[in-house]
Amino acid sequence: MSPFQKDEGFFTKDWTITLPSRPEPNLKYIRLTPNETAGFERFVEEAASRPAAKSSNTETSPVGLKASFEPGGRMQKMYIESQTQHHALDVFIYLDDRFVGWGAMYEITPPFSKPSVANIGIKLLPEVQGKGLGKTLMQLLLRLSNEVDADIIEAGTMKENASMRAIAKSVGLVESDKINFVPGRGVVADVMFENIERERWRDFDMLVELREKVVELQVSHLNTPLLDN
Ligand SMILES: CC(C)(COP(=O)(O)OP(=O)(O)OC[C@H]1O[C@@H](n2cnc3c(N)ncnc32)[C@H](O)[C@@H]1OP(=O)(O)O)[C@@H](O)C(=O)NCCC(=O)NCCS
Repeated sequence: MSPFQKDEGFFTKDWTITLPSRPEPNLKYIRLTPNETAGFERFVEEAASRPAAKSSNTETSPVGLKASFEPGGRMQKMYIESQTQHHALDVFIYLDDRFVGWGAMYEITPPFSKPSVANIGIKLLPEVQGKGLGKTLMQLLLRLSNEVDADIIEAGTMKENASMRAIAKSVGLVESDKINFVPGRGVVADVMFENIERERWRDFDMLVELREKVVELQVSHLNTPLLDN
Protein backbone atom coordinates (compact mmCIF):
# COMPACT_ATOMS: atom_id res chain seq x y z
CA MET A 1 0.00 0.00 0.00
CA SER A 2 1.38 3.44 -0.91
CA PRO A 3 2.49 5.68 1.98
CA PHE A 4 -0.27 7.83 3.36
CA GLN A 5 0.42 11.53 3.79
CA LYS A 6 -1.41 12.87 6.82
CA ASP A 7 -2.72 16.44 6.60
CA GLU A 8 -2.33 18.37 9.84
CA GLY A 9 -4.86 20.88 8.50
CA PHE A 10 -7.61 18.61 9.82
CA PHE A 11 -6.45 19.65 13.32
CA THR A 12 -4.98 23.11 12.84
CA LYS A 13 -7.82 24.46 10.72
CA ASP A 14 -11.59 24.31 10.71
CA TRP A 15 -13.31 22.61 7.80
CA THR A 16 -16.44 21.67 5.98
CA ILE A 17 -16.69 18.40 4.08
CA THR A 18 -19.16 17.42 1.39
CA LEU A 19 -19.52 13.93 0.02
CA PRO A 20 -19.98 13.15 -3.68
CA SER A 21 -21.93 10.07 -2.55
CA ARG A 22 -24.48 12.40 -0.86
CA PRO A 23 -24.81 15.39 -3.18
CA GLU A 24 -27.80 17.00 -1.47
CA PRO A 25 -27.03 20.76 -1.61
CA ASN A 26 -27.97 21.36 2.03
CA LEU A 27 -25.96 18.54 3.58
CA LYS A 28 -22.57 19.26 5.12
CA TYR A 29 -20.22 17.58 7.58
CA ILE A 30 -18.51 20.27 9.62
CA ARG A 31 -15.76 20.25 12.22
CA LEU A 32 -17.31 21.01 15.58
CA THR A 33 -15.59 23.95 17.25
CA PRO A 34 -16.11 25.90 20.47
CA ASN A 35 -18.12 28.41 18.40
CA GLU A 36 -20.91 25.84 18.15
CA THR A 37 -20.88 24.89 21.84
CA ALA A 38 -24.41 26.18 22.47
CA GLY A 39 -25.79 24.42 19.37
CA PHE A 40 -24.00 21.22 20.31
CA GLU A 41 -25.35 21.27 23.84
CA ARG A 42 -28.87 21.89 22.48
CA PHE A 43 -28.40 18.91 20.18
CA VAL A 44 -27.29 16.71 23.08
CA GLU A 45 -30.30 17.74 25.15
CA GLU A 46 -32.67 17.30 22.24
CA ALA A 47 -31.27 13.88 21.36
CA ALA A 48 -31.45 12.74 24.98
CA SER A 49 -35.01 13.97 25.50
CA ARG A 50 -36.53 12.51 22.35
CA PRO A 51 -37.58 8.92 21.88
CA ALA A 52 -35.26 6.96 19.63
CA ALA A 53 -36.45 6.02 16.16
CA LYS A 54 -38.31 2.75 16.10
CA SER A 55 -35.45 0.83 14.62
CA SER A 56 -32.87 2.18 17.00
CA ASN A 57 -32.04 1.67 20.63
CA THR A 58 -30.81 4.00 23.28
CA GLU A 59 -27.31 5.17 22.53
CA THR A 60 -24.72 3.39 24.60
CA SER A 61 -21.41 4.24 23.06
CA PRO A 62 -18.24 4.75 25.05
CA VAL A 63 -18.33 8.19 23.41
CA GLY A 64 -21.80 8.68 24.78
CA LEU A 65 -24.37 11.37 25.27
CA LYS A 66 -24.81 10.86 28.95
CA ALA A 67 -26.38 13.42 31.20
CA SER A 68 -23.50 12.82 33.58
CA PHE A 69 -20.88 14.59 31.51
CA GLU A 70 -20.35 18.01 30.06
CA PRO A 71 -20.40 17.54 26.30
CA GLY A 72 -19.48 21.15 25.58
CA GLY A 73 -16.56 21.08 27.99
CA ARG A 74 -15.23 17.82 26.60
CA MET A 75 -15.53 19.04 23.02
CA GLN A 76 -13.82 22.38 23.75
CA LYS A 77 -10.94 20.73 25.57
CA MET A 78 -10.45 18.16 22.82
CA TYR A 79 -10.64 20.86 20.14
CA ILE A 80 -7.92 22.93 21.76
CA GLU A 81 -5.64 20.00 22.58
CA SER A 82 -6.14 18.33 19.21
CA GLN A 83 -4.45 21.23 17.44
CA THR A 84 -1.11 19.95 18.70
CA GLN A 85 -1.89 16.38 19.80
CA HIS A 86 -3.91 15.33 16.72
CA HIS A 87 -5.81 12.90 18.94
CA ALA A 88 -9.47 13.92 18.52
CA LEU A 89 -12.03 15.23 16.06
CA ASP A 90 -15.70 16.11 16.50
CA VAL A 91 -17.92 16.39 13.41
CA PHE A 92 -21.51 17.46 13.08
CA ILE A 93 -24.01 16.94 10.29
CA TYR A 94 -25.66 20.12 9.13
CA LEU A 95 -28.79 19.39 7.10
CA ASP A 96 -31.19 22.09 5.91
CA ASP A 97 -29.68 24.59 8.36
CA ARG A 98 -30.06 22.24 11.33
CA PHE A 99 -27.62 20.38 13.53
CA VAL A 100 -28.99 16.84 13.09
CA GLY A 101 -26.12 14.52 13.88
CA TRP A 102 -22.76 14.27 15.58
CA GLY A 103 -19.80 11.95 15.47
CA ALA A 104 -16.69 11.98 17.59
CA MET A 105 -13.40 10.24 17.65
CA TYR A 106 -10.96 10.72 20.46
CA GLU A 107 -8.24 9.02 22.40
CA ILE A 108 -9.50 7.15 25.45
CA THR A 109 -6.14 5.97 26.77
CA PRO A 110 -4.08 8.24 29.03
CA PRO A 111 -1.46 10.43 27.33
CA PHE A 112 1.66 8.57 26.14
CA SER A 113 0.00 5.13 26.53
CA LYS A 114 1.23 2.42 24.21
CA PRO A 115 -0.76 1.35 22.35
CA SER A 116 -2.96 4.45 22.32
CA VAL A 117 -6.62 3.83 21.52
CA ALA A 118 -9.17 6.18 19.97
CA ASN A 119 -12.88 5.47 20.05
CA ILE A 120 -15.54 6.38 17.50
CA GLY A 121 -19.07 7.31 18.53
CA ILE A 122 -22.01 8.60 16.53
CA LYS A 123 -25.52 9.93 17.14
CA LEU A 124 -28.33 11.22 14.92
CA LEU A 125 -31.63 12.83 15.82
CA PRO A 126 -34.42 10.24 15.47
CA GLU A 127 -36.09 11.95 12.48
CA VAL A 128 -33.01 11.65 10.28
CA GLN A 129 -32.15 8.09 11.21
CA GLY A 130 -32.62 5.32 8.66
CA LYS A 131 -31.75 7.51 5.65
CA GLY A 132 -28.13 6.43 5.24
CA LEU A 133 -26.68 9.43 7.07
CA GLY A 134 -25.29 7.37 9.96
CA LYS A 135 -23.44 5.17 7.54
CA THR A 136 -21.92 8.12 5.66
CA LEU A 137 -20.87 9.76 8.91
CA MET A 138 -19.23 6.51 9.98
CA GLN A 139 -17.45 6.26 6.63
CA LEU A 140 -16.21 9.83 7.01
CA LEU A 141 -14.97 9.17 10.55
CA LEU A 142 -13.16 6.06 9.32
CA ARG A 143 -11.49 8.16 6.64
CA LEU A 144 -10.53 10.81 9.21
CA SER A 145 -9.28 8.14 11.63
CA ASN A 146 -6.29 7.86 9.28
CA GLU A 147 -5.31 11.39 10.32
CA VAL A 148 -5.57 10.73 14.06
CA ASP A 149 -2.47 9.97 16.09
CA ALA A 150 -3.69 6.81 17.79
CA ASP A 151 -2.34 3.30 17.40
CA ILE A 152 -5.73 1.63 17.48
CA ILE A 153 -9.19 2.77 16.39
CA GLU A 154 -12.21 1.07 17.92
CA ALA A 155 -15.92 1.48 18.55
CA GLY A 156 -18.43 -0.23 20.77
CA THR A 157 -22.10 -0.55 21.53
CA MET A 158 -24.61 -2.74 23.37
CA LYS A 159 -25.90 -5.97 21.85
CA GLU A 160 -29.45 -4.66 21.61
CA ASN A 161 -28.38 -1.66 19.50
CA ALA A 162 -29.39 -3.12 16.16
CA SER A 163 -28.84 0.14 14.26
CA MET A 164 -25.26 0.66 15.39
CA ARG A 165 -24.43 -2.97 14.76
CA ALA A 166 -26.02 -2.71 11.31
CA ILE A 167 -24.04 0.35 10.23
CA ALA A 168 -20.85 -1.18 11.61
CA LYS A 169 -21.52 -4.33 9.61
CA SER A 170 -22.38 -2.31 6.51
CA VAL A 171 -18.92 -0.70 6.57
CA GLY A 172 -17.17 -4.00 7.22
CA LEU A 173 -16.37 -3.72 10.94
CA VAL A 174 -15.94 -7.00 12.77
CA GLU A 175 -17.69 -7.61 16.10
CA SER A 176 -16.16 -9.14 19.19
CA ASP A 177 -17.94 -9.97 22.45
CA LYS A 178 -15.50 -7.99 24.57
CA ILE A 179 -17.09 -6.00 27.37
CA ASN A 180 -16.02 -2.40 27.87
CA PHE A 181 -16.35 -1.47 31.53
CA VAL A 182 -15.68 2.11 32.58
CA PRO A 183 -15.22 2.70 36.31
CA GLY A 184 -18.03 4.92 37.56
CA ARG A 185 -20.20 4.20 34.52
CA GLY A 186 -20.34 0.43 34.41
CA VAL A 187 -20.61 -1.56 31.20
CA VAL A 188 -20.69 0.93 28.31
CA ALA A 189 -20.40 -1.68 25.55
CA ASP A 190 -20.80 -5.43 25.27
CA VAL A 191 -20.07 -5.56 21.55
CA MET A 192 -16.76 -4.11 20.41
CA PHE A 193 -15.36 -3.34 16.99
CA GLU A 194 -11.67 -3.59 17.72
CA ASN A 195 -8.60 -2.87 15.65
CA ILE A 196 -10.57 -1.26 12.86
CA GLU A 197 -8.79 -1.44 9.51
CA ARG A 198 -8.77 2.29 8.90
CA GLU A 199 -6.32 2.01 5.97
CA ARG A 200 -9.20 0.72 3.84
CA TRP A 201 -10.83 4.17 4.08
CA ARG A 202 -7.90 6.30 2.96
CA ASP A 203 -9.35 6.78 -0.51
CA PHE A 204 -12.87 7.62 0.63
CA ASP A 205 -14.13 10.31 -1.72
CA MET A 206 -14.72 13.66 0.00
CA LEU A 207 -14.37 17.34 -0.77
CA VAL A 208 -12.67 19.30 1.98
CA GLU A 209 -12.89 23.04 2.39
CA LEU A 210 -10.26 24.13 4.93
CA ARG A 211 -10.70 27.45 6.72
CA GLU A 212 -8.44 29.39 9.00
CA LYS A 213 -9.36 28.79 12.60
CA VAL A 214 -11.88 31.24 13.89
CA VAL A 215 -11.47 30.21 17.50
CA GLU A 216 -8.37 30.99 19.51
CA LEU A 217 -9.03 29.70 22.99
CA GLN A 218 -6.59 28.55 25.62
CA VAL A 219 -7.44 25.46 27.64
CA SER A 220 -6.86 27.46 30.79
CA HIS A 221 -9.64 29.83 29.73
CA LEU A 222 -12.18 27.06 29.75
CA ASN A 223 -13.93 26.76 33.05
CA THR A 224 -16.03 23.72 32.21
CA PRO A 225 -14.54 20.65 33.86
CA LEU A 226 -13.88 17.56 31.78
CA LEU A 227 -16.04 14.89 33.36
CA ASP A 228 -15.96 12.20 30.71
CA ASN A 229 -12.79 10.41 29.67
C1 LIG B 1 -26.89 4.04 15.00
C2 LIG B 1 -27.19 5.19 14.02
C3 LIG B 1 -26.02 6.17 14.03
C4 LIG B 1 -27.38 4.58 12.63
O1 LIG B 1 -27.55 5.62 11.69
P1 LIG B 1 -28.73 5.59 10.62
O2 LIG B 1 -28.62 6.81 9.80
O3 LIG B 1 -30.00 5.36 11.35
O4 LIG B 1 -28.38 4.28 9.77
P2 LIG B 1 -28.31 4.21 8.18
O5 LIG B 1 -29.59 4.67 7.61
O6 LIG B 1 -27.08 4.92 7.73
O7 LIG B 1 -28.17 2.64 7.95
C5 LIG B 1 -26.98 2.05 7.43
C6 LIG B 1 -27.25 0.59 7.16
O8 LIG B 1 -27.65 -0.07 8.36
C7 LIG B 1 -28.96 -0.65 8.21
N1 LIG B 1 -29.71 -0.45 9.44
C8 LIG B 1 -29.80 0.71 10.16
N2 LIG B 1 -30.55 0.51 11.26
C9 LIG B 1 -30.90 -0.81 11.24
C10 LIG B 1 -31.67 -1.64 12.10
N3 LIG B 1 -32.22 -1.15 13.22
N4 LIG B 1 -31.84 -2.93 11.78
C11 LIG B 1 -31.28 -3.45 10.65
N5 LIG B 1 -30.53 -2.71 9.78
C12 LIG B 1 -30.37 -1.41 10.07
C13 LIG B 1 -29.57 0.12 7.06
O9 LIG B 1 -30.57 -0.65 6.41
C14 LIG B 1 -28.38 0.36 6.16
O10 LIG B 1 -28.05 -0.83 5.45
P3 LIG B 1 -27.35 -0.77 3.99
O11 LIG B 1 -25.97 -0.21 4.16
O12 LIG B 1 -27.34 -2.20 3.57
O13 LIG B 1 -28.23 0.09 3.15
C15 LIG B 1 -28.48 5.96 14.38
O14 LIG B 1 -29.56 5.08 14.30
C16 LIG B 1 -28.43 6.60 15.75
O15 LIG B 1 -27.98 7.73 15.88
N6 LIG B 1 -28.93 5.89 16.78
C17 LIG B 1 -28.94 6.43 18.13
C18 LIG B 1 -27.55 6.61 18.69
C19 LIG B 1 -26.75 5.34 18.68
O16 LIG B 1 -27.24 4.25 18.97
N7 LIG B 1 -25.46 5.48 18.36
C20 LIG B 1 -24.56 4.33 18.29
C21 LIG B 1 -23.74 4.17 19.47
S1 LIG B 1 -22.06 4.62 19.08
